[in-house]
Amino acid sequence: MTLDRTPTRAHPTDRRAPRPPLLVTADPALREELQRLAAAAGVTPQVAADPLTALRSWTRAALVLVGGDLAAPLADLAPERRDGVHVLAWGTADHELFRAAVALGAEDVSELPRSEGWVVEALTDIGEAGRPRGLVVGVVGGSGGAGATTLACALGQVAGRTGDAVVVDCDPLGPGVDRVLGLDRTAGFRWDALCQTTGRLSARALREALPRRRGVGVLSWYAGTPASLQPFAVREALSACRRGHDTVLVDLPRTDDPVVAEVVARCDVVLVVAVPTVAGVAAAARVCARHRGRAPVTLVLHGRAVDPREVAASAGAPVLAVVPHQRGLGEAVDLGLGPVRSPRSPLSRWCAELLERLRDPAVVPALPVSQPAGDPGRAA
Ligand SMILES: Nc1ncnc2c1ncn2[C@@H]1O[C@H](COP(=O)(O)OP(=O)(O)OP(=O)(O)O)[C@@H](O)[C@H]1O
Ligand SMILES: [Mg+2]
Repeated sequence: MTLDRTPTRAHPTDRRAPRPPLLVTADPALREELQRLAAAAGVTPQVAADPLTALRSWTRAALVLVGGDLAAPLADLAPERRDGVHVLAWGTADHELFRAAVALGAEDVSELPRSEGWVVEALTDIGEAGRPRGLVVGVVGGSGGAGATTLACALGQVAGRTGDAVVVDCDPLGPGVDRVLGLDRTAGFRWDALCQTTGRLSARALREALPRRRGVGVLSWYAGTPASLQPFAVREALSACRRGHDTVLVDLPRTDDPVVAEVVARCDVVLVVAVPTVAGVAAAARVCARHRGRAPVTLVLHGRAVDPREVAASAGAPVLAVVPHQRGLGEAVDLGLGPVRSPRSPLSRWCAELLERLRDPAVVPALPVSQPAGDPGRAA
């Protein structure tokens, strides 16, 4: 797929320039083509026109693209095994080339020009290589209108202040997280476009293509269009979001189907927002039971009407926190400012504290993940 690459502002998590990729080819046409693709990805490669020169940068390069013309002579030198080696052929790759690729320990053999898009994405992702995988937090309402979408967006705004954050809308019947964050009029990629694409998504290209403001991006649908989750798009988008962001907030629907089950299984933790009333806790208990076994599940209460210990006992899940009721929240959302209007607001400080706890390995692994029979379990 091709994504527009709009320039983005410097952000606190911007890292040092990545190590360059290495192109190994003596074929001028292939070299020119790969340099063109590298330019499209915004990287400047090192070029080795013979196997011995290639060996000098072999281990240091962020990624190695070996032209079909030099794959066999390079394999004869038995370079050290390393990740990120790809063999590229013009037209159809023959058996000899596959044999050389195996000898080199290459991950794959791709044919040009068919694989151009893939090559650009692989080169674009070089800068993401050192990023630790992002924290994925699912948020679901224990009952209707409990405050799940608001919480996902508020956590996204606060996480976006210190790193790259994204709020992924997985509720086709919700208001749209772009609407809640005031990004509904901002140009950028939506699910609608992603559902048309095939192949691996580049983490950086996706991050830069999403509507974004102050460190938080959104993946949502165009307003007013019929929306649904496509398994392939969801899988690729979540993986790219996790690779390209420090924090991923997923607004989960209260309905359940195999796609939702898969999304939940990809979350590091699922927050069930419960209203502390008899009916609210009873419904939240069902939601917790539904997702238990797919991901660690914990409750966040919206209100203090009932003792959190009683809620935990009734719902069968621990209560992690009680979300403060933020005055003027609806107005801030209506103004397009998102639920967190000011970094000094109680909701903002509470979100920062909650994110810190969710990043604490002592908190999340301590949350229960049972494995009921027949459940698909957690995805890799
Ligand atoms: N912490 C909060 N402080 C004040 N108002 C809040 C808070 N959280 C949510 N709200 C308000 O509660 C209402 C419902 O919130 P929200 O849409 O986030 O709930 P939901 O659980 O996502 O609902 P749905 O079941 O439709 O998905 C909204 O009007 C929102 O402004
Ligand atoms: Mg919602």
